[in-house]
Amino acid sequence: MRVGVLTGGGDCPGLNAVIRAVVRKGVKEYGYEFVGFRDGWKGPLEGVTTELGIPQVRGILPRGGTILGSSRTNPFKVEGGVEKIKANLADLGVDALIAIGGEDTLGVATKLHDLGVQVVGVPKTIDNDLNATDFTFGFDTAVNIAMEAIDRLHTTAESHHRVLVVEVMGRHAGWIALHAGMSGGANVVLIPEKPFDIEQVCALVERRFEDHYAPILVVSEGAVPVEGGEMSLVSGEKDAFGHVRLGGIGDRLASEIEHRTGKEARAVVLGHVQRGGTPTAFDRWLATRFGLHAIDAVHDGDFGTMMALRGTRIERVPLIEGTGELKLVDPQEYAEAEVFFG
Ligand code: F6P
Repeated sequence: MRVGVLTGGGDCPGLNAVIRAVVRKGVKEYGYEFVGFRDGWKGPLEGVTTELGIPQVRGILPRGGTILGSSRTNPFKVEGGVEKIKANLADLGVDALIAIGGEDTLGVATKLHDLGVQVVGVPKTIDNDLNATDFTFGFDTAVNIAMEAIDRLHTTAESHHRVLVVEVMGRHAGWIALHAGMSGGANVVLIPEKPFDIEQVCALVERRFEDHYAPILVVSEGAVPVEGGEMSLVSGEKDAFGHVRLGGIGDRLASEIEHRTGKEARAVVLGHVQRGGTPTAFDRWLATRFGLHAIDAVHDGDFGTMMALRGTRIERVPLIEGTGELKLVDPQEYAEAEVFFG
């Protein structure tokens, strides 16, 4: 059996741990050969491969990113893409594929499986918004990075009596903001699932100052104000302190808070730092187990499935379960964090 492996979408700490586990178990227990596909679906689409065996996976467990490279290429958006992939897999003698990725990558895997490609999926995203699995690897690392940033920002907030707004990733779901905010002791957490009222946010900021503490706000990049509660400053405009803001939600929020409360505010955008560097122990553990179970699924011929963490068990679920809808923050869990607001 020759198995192709690819990683698609945004990079994520733990990708290399999956690749290592797949290859180690595949070679040692099943005697399989592997083909590494470069840069997500671009690899099978263009037939770009790299050697993948025990020597290539040695020492990669703690490394962030992916040794296979990644891209957001979607073969369904390329004319004749599916036929090209099938032809390349046949030419390379690849019998089965393991696709490691988020909603888009696994969405492609689902459709390819329906068209006869033997594929098994492994879910990944730092955003933790993939359905069917309790957690995705990469999330814990991202939360820890954000939490450490919040811990460090407390000192500047307090010393300078400033509002600190920390913008974290999460276009559609606020999991990183919620978990990092709760772990870091944030005074306000704003997430895409719950549009915020800027007046309420400013009231919480003022209340925090009344207690002689400086507030830290954590905001998901996808958070939005409630309808009709639009913020008055637009990006590029000078705020009350003469700063020109860049235009992300963190910057806009900091401007608006300064404007409305007269308190100095700064925004810190964590950006891709959250996806970089070495995975935490939890993410290495989860990614490794996903890899071990994915190669077992290939061995069992259980294609069209993806690995999912359910409690402490790794289970196989149909790929479609993970790719239909996103897993959004549970309102009850958000309500728990609200106890600490202000
Ligand atoms: O992996 C998901 C994610 O981290 C989102 O939270 C973020 O919006 C996006 O990736 C940004 O990715 P890139 O800048 O690589 O397109």
